[in-house]
Amino acid sequence: MLKIQRVLPAPMAGYTDFVFRKLLRRLGVKYTFTEMISAKALVLKNPRTLEMVKKINKEPDVIVQIFGNEPKTMAEATRLLYDMGIKRIDINMGCPQRKVVRTGAGAALMKEPLIVAQIVREVSKAADIILSVKMRLGWRENTAPELAYICEQEGAKFITVHARTKTQMFSGNAKWDEAKKIKKRITIPLIINGDIIDIKTAQTAIRDSNADGIMIARAMIGSPWIISLVEKGLYSSSNKSIDISLKKRLDIALTHLELMREYYNKRNLWVAKRQISHYSHGLRYSAYFRKAIFNAKDWKEVKILLLSLFEKNFKKDITIG
Ligand SMILES: Cc1cc2nc3c(=O)[nH]c(=O)nc-3n(C[C@H](O)[C@H](O)[C@H](O)COP(=O)(O)O)c2cc1C
Repeated sequence: MLKIQRVLPAPMAGYTDFVFRKLLRRLGVKYTFTEMISAKALVLKNPRTLEMVKKINKEPDVIVQIFGNEPKTMAEATRLLYDMGIKRIDINMGCPQRKVVRTGAGAALMKEPLIVAQIVREVSKAADIILSVKMRLGWRENTAPELAYICEQEGAKFITVHARTKTQMFSGNAKWDEAKKIKKRITIPLIINGDIIDIKTAQTAIRDSNADGIMIARAMIGSPWIISLVEKGLYSSSNKSIDISLKKRLDIALTHLELMREYYNKRNLWVAKRQISHYSHGLRYSAYFRKAIFNAKDWKEVKILLLSLFEKNFKKDITIG
């Protein structure tokens, strides 16, 4: 798998929905991750969870990320997903949110190596799937090397590490060099994640961690093209930028908006507002744009605001040039 794609787009709740994954594929990305999906909610056939996976059979290379802390439920969820045509499952062991860790799931699993062993064993036996695990460095200290080793022994085929502990949440810098200790304990590929925003940080993260690939989360929101651009530039010595022309940027934002309008059938305008607001990053008038977009009444107004933001930036480009 890593031979084909060394730069993976991260799973992101609230962002990497069906539409975002489709957009990534149009931009040349093969493997994508879903948002994290509750194994329990899936087994209990919660309508909102079923909605999240309803078209999943149309995505051959999607990796479905599940979270939970009961081995039997995680295995049952895996079987359900397998029956829907899913071939790749990722287990979330890194989410620090209170509502998740309170149930013993996400990053809380990093304190429970015995449960981890059971979960990974049961899930990998549940169906003919490729299993991966996404973790943090640990709860408070770097315990990931041992945990990653356990995951490999029980059937995981690659490990992703967000190089922060749970107690760090998103503060401080990701400690890429700490991931080296994981690499020493496992033979399966390691993906390094955290604070990678361009080709240079991608190269440094790989060098510091010895990882086999990288994963990008926040930097791809409003800039989904970054995944294929970093992939192309990762092993080149030229310091290529990940910037694309304003025109291309607008085209991608408009495509994203159109795909959301189609998929959500005009519902969920707020999802579109949130996603589209990020395309203004680094542009002039972006603060005004973000405020205006959140007050927009309908899809048409969001589109008009987007076009006018880029129009103003095109003009400025010409004036300056
Ligand atoms: C809004 C948001 C939602 C996220 N949702 C998930 C998720 O569903 N599953 C997961 O494993 N990590 C999730 N993460 C963590 C990211 O995948 C990633 O590990 C983290 O943001 C660090 O990478 P970055 O510095 O490239 O953003 C989320 C992060 C953010 C900011």
